[in-house]
Amino acid sequence: AVHSRQLTVQMMQNPQILAALQERLDGLNGSPSGYIESLPKVVKRRVNALKNLQVKCAHIEAKFYEEVHELERKYAALYQPLFDKRSDIVKAAYEPTDEECEWKADEEEELTEMKEKAKLEEEKKDEEKEDPKGIPEFWLTVFKNVDLLSDMLQEHDEPILKHLQDIKVKFSDPGQPMSFTLEFHFEPNEFFTNAMLTKTYKMRSEPDENDPFSFDGPEIMCCTGCTIDWTKGKNVTLKTIKKKQKHKGRGTVRTVTKTVPNDSFFNFFTPPEVPENGELDEDSEAVLAADFEIGHFIRERIVPRAVLYFTGEAIEDDDDDTEVTVYCVQEGEEEADEENDPDYDPKVRPSLTTHIHTL
Ligand SMILES: *[C@@H]1O[C@H](CO)[C@@H](O)[C@H](O)[C@H]1NC(C)=O
Ligand SMILES: *[C@@H]1O[C@H](CO)[C@@H](O)[C@H](O)[C@H]1NC(C)=O
Repeated sequence: AVHSRQLTVQMMQNPQILAALQERLDGLNGSPSGYIESLPKVVKRRVNALKNLQVKCAHIEAKFYEEVHELERKYAALYQPLFDKRSDIVKAAYEPTDEECEWKADEEEELTEMKEKAKLEEEKKDEEKEDPKGIPEFWLTVFKNVDLLSDMLQEHDEPILKHLQDIKVKFSDPGQPMSFTLEFHFEPNEFFTNAMLTKTYKMRSEPDENDPFSFDGPEIMCCTGCTIDWTKGKNVTLKTIKKKQKHKGRGTVRTVTKTVPNDSFFNFFTPPEVPENGELDEDSEAVLAADFEIGHFIRERIVPRAVLYFTGEAIEDDDDDTEVTVYCVQEGEEEADEENDPDYDPKVRPSLTTHIHTL
């Protein structure tokens, strides 16, 4: 053993061996190892041919994701009548029949709770007295149950979100640039006159010319909100502050009122604009990264399974996703659990691949 250690020490002092070792390490790190450079010209030429094939693969993959988008559109139309019925029940436009209200778990509960039945019935009577319409505060409860959304929620947003009756996802038409729009439908309320607030996410599903190998499905590129027509005095995205102002020359102090932006979920509808040159300051970039994540989450999870976020069942389910994540990590995927990963960036985590990888 002593012998081999001496040998190692000698080797480590040999600059040539060190350089070779460094080269190997560089290769492992994914930086140029020099190996490719050392290949004969004719072989290098052929490697270029392989790379060109790879670019073509990326373009075919882009077509694949376009077809996935088409499929999603097709199936969205099949889900929609069910989502519409959900909305009708929530807003009390439709009273479900006894048959529609039967649920297995309830039956089991009833068996074990026979003795409490009388008590339950009394409670029922109480409820009837209050006569709640539909499912009160359905979407507000969903918002409160999901960390990603409740983080945006301010106390003064809650009375407004009580009026939220539905969230719909609309996909772009065939042949149009790929995008999806979230529609937030509100009942008439004292806060704003819009019946609907919208947020549109534009996507791109084609390899970047300058970096075709990074292509991994559609990316959200930018988003646009909408103008909220706030009733006078109800604009929760604004607050007025009083500021003392000192006159430089005279030294007199006066109080001025200023309006400044206020934290609110409704700032979601005025996202930072991506300027022409594509350069964003750090703050806007962080806001947008979070925004894309939220938009993606609402589309992919909340809208399809709203009732489970209302009851909290979907939140337990999210633990299962962690298992999938472990699998992904083992597969060498960069992607990780989107809810818990602070570095999660939906720009590099396109929506559709999420599904594909976890199928
Ligand atoms: C601004 O935000 C604060 C705290 O988040 C809230 O109490 C206040 O009502 C908001 N102002 C307006 C005008 O909504
Ligand atoms: C509400 O406040 C935002 C700033 O947060 C402002 O841009 C907008 O013009 C205001 N809208 C109304 C109707 O006052």
